[in-house]
Amino acid sequence: MVNMTKLKHAISENSPAASKSIAYVIGVTTVGANPVVAKSSLDSKFLAAINLESLGVTGALGKTTKVAGPESSVVVLVGLGDKQDLESLRFIGGVASRELGGSLHVVLDIPLKSTAETLALFEGFLLGNYEFQNYKSKPTKRELAKLTIVTKAKPKPAELSELEIIVAAVHACRDLVNQPANELYPEVMTQQAKKASKGLPIKIRVWEEKDLVASGLGGIYAVGKGSSRPPRLVKLEYKPAGAKVSLALVGKGITFDTGGLSLKPAESMVGMKYDMTGAAAVMQALVAIATLGIKVRATAWLCLAENMPSGSATRPNDIIKIRNGKTVEVLNTDAEGRLVLADGLSMAVEESPDYLIDVATLTGAATIALGNRYAGLMGDVEAISRVEKASAAVGELVWHMPLPEELRPLLDSDIADIANVKIGNRAGGMLIGGLFLREFVGSDEDTKPAWAHLDIAGPANNDSAAYGHTPKGATGVTVRTLVQLAKDLAN
Ligand code: BES
Ligand code: MN
Ligand code: ZN
Repeated sequence: MVNMTKLKHAISENSPAASKSIAYVIGVTTVGANPVVAKSSLDSKFLAAINLESLGVTGALGKTTKVAGPESSVVVLVGLGDKQDLESLRFIGGVASRELGGSLHVVLDIPLKSTAETLALFEGFLLGNYEFQNYKSKPTKRELAKLTIVTKAKPKPAELSELEIIVAAVHACRDLVNQPANELYPEVMTQQAKKASKGLPIKIRVWEEKDLVASGLGGIYAVGKGSSRPPRLVKLEYKPAGAKVSLALVGKGITFDTGGLSLKPAESMVGMKYDMTGAAAVMQALVAIATLGIKVRATAWLCLAENMPSGSATRPNDIIKIRNGKTVEVLNTDAEGRLVLADGLSMAVEESPDYLIDVATLTGAATIALGNRYAGLMGDVEAISRVEKASAAVGELVWHMPLPEELRPLLDSDIADIANVKIGNRAGGMLIGGLFLREFVGSDEDTKPAWAHLDIAGPANNDSAAYGHTPKGATGVTVRTLVQLAKDLAN
């Protein structure tokens, strides 16, 4: 079940009459170097009288300036930027919803050339309309009662509700990720997966600790065994009639990553509640896929564990066995994501899906290489191009990275099949993570899926200021890409 946003909305050719409960959002373009107010339904004499120069209005993308409007309304001038594309409209929509706290009725009245543009503006507004205040004793929730988009380019009602479902999944992902680890641990994630699937055609299977051992899921077990809160593998399965293509999603779900016995320094540990973003994203993407009834067979594998140091924790030099039979020498217990994913990928591969995508906050090296907005994308060309296309369509940023063969021998172990890290090596950390995972995505050329790995260590969490439709904290990144990918595969 998707928790839908309560925001009322209308797409109308007519702008509502001015009153003190209305905030009009009006566009500003630049002609030459000069800002110019874009066409809208507001009185042109009123708009012409606004002194843009003295207000410092530039037309830069998403920059807002508030002025007093007719009948005590508010007029918000928003810069439309250099070029109007779908992502700039999502950005502007996000800015409008974040900045108009307390405005009861937001009227977006900027020029829109197509229903796709209207949908993008609507999507950005919904995405930006998010705050996580569950732990504030005095929440300061902005109650936006209504949104009107003024345009002739009206999407179909079904197109609007599809976006509402997808955005609800993004918000639900953000809620899970923002939840602190003292309240969100593998068992809670399991309950949340059940709750989110209620009433939907989703089958759930859970491997508890003893089942992990019995099923040879030695990676998830080894990472979770240092915690008093046991690990889990959760499988969500959606199998609509008539689907021709199958998609398996695998998510890293470390509810907290202390590093284990290879303990992280204090500052690096802050933020490690975000280390279950991959699992939350694949869970919510699957829920949206099932809610929308997309004609693709889809599974989501949540690899859940809390990585803690204790007397029962995995030690450096321990050797564990992954589901696919490969043995791993654990040289650094902080490289735990690849161990839980190895099991999840192995399980997914046993069903021979056409596509296999894993999502993980896998390496700090990903942020060194790509910063905090791009996800690293590695794997097979066919899956890579699908993910690139889907992410570009929804405006999520990914960057294709190589899996250089010469780095693979760094993971050779003297006594096991493979080691989880090369001690002392700092070169190509994100790529080595990808090379390790590649060992678990199947070897049978006929049945092996097209695989892609998304390292989202950077974009999972935004610890600087909010921008566009991206809030502070959990971003919910990749939910929209994965749903778009499922839509593409269904066609
Ligand atoms: N969860 C971390 C990766 C991470 C770091 C995500 C920073 C987000 C921000 C992961 O489990 C980890 O600790 N990776 C190690 C790998 C290393 C031991 C090879 C890292 O990046 O240092
Ligand atoms: Mn770690
Ligand atoms: Zn981790």
